[in-house]
Amino acid sequence: MMGSKDLEAEIHPLKNEDKRLQENLGSQTTKEDNLKGLPRQPGLSGCRTVAFFLSLFVCLFVVFVVSFIIPCPDRPASQGTWRVYYNAAVTYDFLATEDINRDRIQDVLFLYKNTNSSNNSNLSCADEGFSSPCTFVAAVSGANGSVLWERPAAQDGALVQCAVPQPQGGRTSSACILVGRPSSFVAVDVFTGETLWSHPSSFGGNASILSSLFRLPDVDADGAPDLLVLTQEEKEVSGYIYSGSTGHQIGHRGSLGVGGTSGSLLHVTRMGAHYILFPCASSLCGRSVKGLHETVTGRGSPLKRDPLWEGMLNATTHGLLWRSPGAIRYLMTVPGKVGEDLLLVSSEACVLLDGQELAPRWIFSAARVLRRPILGYYKPDTLAVVIENGTGIDRQILLLDLSTGAVLWNQALPGLPGDPQSASLPTADHRSAFFFWGLHELMGTNQTVQEPGDTQHSLYMFHPTVPGVLLELANISANIVAFQAVLFEPSRHAAYVLLTGPTRQDAPGVVSVAKHKVRDLVPSSRVVRLVEGGPDSDQAVRDRFSGLRYRSEA
Ligand SMILES: *[C@@H]1O[C@H](CO)[C@@H](O)[C@H](O)[C@H]1NC(C)=O
Ligand SMILES: *[C@@H]1O[C@H](CO)[C@@H](O)[C@H](O)[C@H]1NC(C)=O
Ligand SMILES: *[C@@H]1O[C@H](CO)[C@@H](O)[C@H](O)[C@H]1NC(C)=O
Ligand SMILES: *[C@@H]1O[C@H](CO)[C@@H](O)[C@H](O)[C@H]1NC(C)=O
Ligand SMILES: *[C@@H]1O[C@H](CO)[C@@H](O)[C@H](O)[C@H]1NC(C)=O
Ligand SMILES: *[C@@H]1O[C@H](CO)[C@@H](O)[C@H](O)[C@H]1NC(C)=O
Ligand SMILES: *[C@@H]1O[C@H](CO)[C@@H](O)[C@H](O)[C@H]1NC(C)=O
Ligand SMILES: *[C@@H]1O[C@H](CO)[C@@H](O)[C@H](O)[C@H]1NC(C)=O
Ligand SMILES: *[C@@H]1O[C@H](CO)[C@@H](O)[C@H](O)[C@H]1NC(C)=O
Repeated sequence: MMGSKDLEAEIHPLKNEDKRLQENLGSQTTKEDNLKGLPRQPGLSGCRTVAFFLSLFVCLFVVFVVSFIIPCPDRPASQGTWRVYYNAAVTYDFLATEDINRDRIQDVLFLYKNTNSSNNSNLSCADEGFSSPCTFVAAVSGANGSVLWERPAAQDGALVQCAVPQPQGGRTSSACILVGRPSSFVAVDVFTGETLWSHPSSFGGNASILSSLFRLPDVDADGAPDLLVLTQEEKEVSGYIYSGSTGHQIGHRGSLGVGGTSGSLLHVTRMGAHYILFPCASSLCGRSVKGLHETVTGRGSPLKRDPLWEGMLNATTHGLLWRSPGAIRYLMTVPGKVGEDLLLVSSEACVLLDGQELAPRWIFSAARVLRRPILGYYKPDTLAVVIENGTGIDRQILLLDLSTGAVLWNQALPGLPGDPQSASLPTADHRSAFFFWGLHELMGTNQTVQEPGDTQHSLYMFHPTVPGVLLELANISANIVAFQAVLFEPSRHAAYVLLTGPTRQDAPGVVSVAKHKVRDLVPSSRVVRLVEGGPDSDQAVRDRFSGLRYRSEA
């Protein structure tokens, strides 16, 4: 961009030049007028030519100066790979990204438990009222891995939700909210690492947390979304509602009257009514958030009920009048044609349910899905769901068309205990790059599966335009606690973030967070051909993957 000063500098030399030229012209013409009494066209046009070339030269000079001599405004240099270590620490399955230092490169948030913080911070556990060791939340720069801030935020980490808007005076900030064990509830400003509020949580002593922190609409009218947590206490599911801006509990505990298992979900029906859905006794149970809010406060609620859903829910058991095939393992919302649909994975089948009528759209009977599915684009702009059927040597990866349930791609890829979840990143051609963990070499062999922690995990990349190839990007032999594929900057800066650490919470060891840019790994990757032959050489395949451009999700 050009400042106003540059513009001035650019305009003025021309102006001065013009003035001088006009003066010259003026004096010439008067001289010639005096001599001949007639203006002479050829001389004038010569001057015009001189003026033209002079200004052209000045213009080109300015262009030259601006584009080659004056350096571009500093664009932060982003390293393809960086790694941060903590000795004698443990970590948790949590990774989040956000542009914290506003350099337009995503930064990385994670948790670790240590006696004292890293070299960069002087805050100790005692400063925040915890005993040592305690859980720190840390933010590191996505560009070079330098620590942006760190803060003790819990005695022992349990549940984190980031990017919760926080109204602060005139501006709105963003917070990470941590529910810690035992009994802490803390909000940390994402941009500064300051503690915004901190309270003991109000869960009962034996409560186990069943859900993530659900974000509700602003029920207490303070300008911030409010939060809902489900716990299991004395064989009953309970709901707690908290103000998102202060962390104070709204009302008291609300029992849902039934037992449940983890895997709950907050679903919004097409008319904007919020329902909690949770697996219960081989069925799907639900409760309107309005009902829960009214129960805990004893007052009315600004939320809505959906008459259709009220008709489908049994008022006493809260069970839906629809039985799932087998025990429910996973429940997730997926984008539908109108609003959101529900994908349900049970012990017997995967079912796509209409988000309003809860009628099955398709049922796919794959007996052994033990991982939460992920989404990605196999055909342009058409969502596909990635499921893993089976474990160990028998694992198969299946890509199903989300709207029909038809199999788009099917590949056996042995998995190992401790393999991270698959991931996908949208590419510029409106498809996705997929990332799978496993060990292709196990295929056809009889190798026994070792203990997690010692095994080598290989990361494979797949793109639908090269369906017969997996690109082996990396071999990792550490215990992987969390993995994420992230688009750090628009277009080309796709990378993966790997959080590794000890397998057991009571045995501290080296915790490491590392970023690896995908493009930098492609030249040294191994091309694994799933079908014999293929027209392209290995180098041509690598070039295809190297040239992939990525797309930020809207
Ligand atoms: C702490 O310092 C050591 C060496 O001085 C370095 O290897 C390590 O990465 C640093 N840790 C963090 C979190 O910065
Ligand atoms: C962390 O604590 C240990 C033992 O309490 C101490 O030896 C070490 O110097 C501390 N490290 C930092 C960076 O303060
Ligand atoms: C940590 O160090 C900074 C300056 O480096 C200082 O402003 C701050 O007060 C210190 N905090 C504590 C808790 O000592
Ligand atoms: C990392 O980048 C930030 C700016 O984004 C800079 O201030 C810092 O000094 C860099 N750290 C290292 C270790 O290069
Ligand atoms: C927790 O459970 C144990 C046994 O399961 C029981 O003895 C104890 O009273 C319970 N504590 C609370 C606070 O409910
Ligand atoms: C609700 O569930 C109870 C217990 O299973 C059953 O007796 C009752 O008939 C159900 N109500 C409706 C409307 O289906
Ligand atoms: C899923 O795996 C099981 C055994 O592991 C197998 O019997 C079943 O056919 C597989 N399903 C599909 C759809 O391939
Ligand atoms: C696989 O291992 C089993 C027992 O460990 C053995 O009986 C079998 O022959 C092996 N098969 C192959 C193909 O090596
Ligand atoms: C991973 O390890 C295998 C052997 O175990 C090797 O053949 C392959 O080249 C390695 N892949 C990468 C990307 O380094």
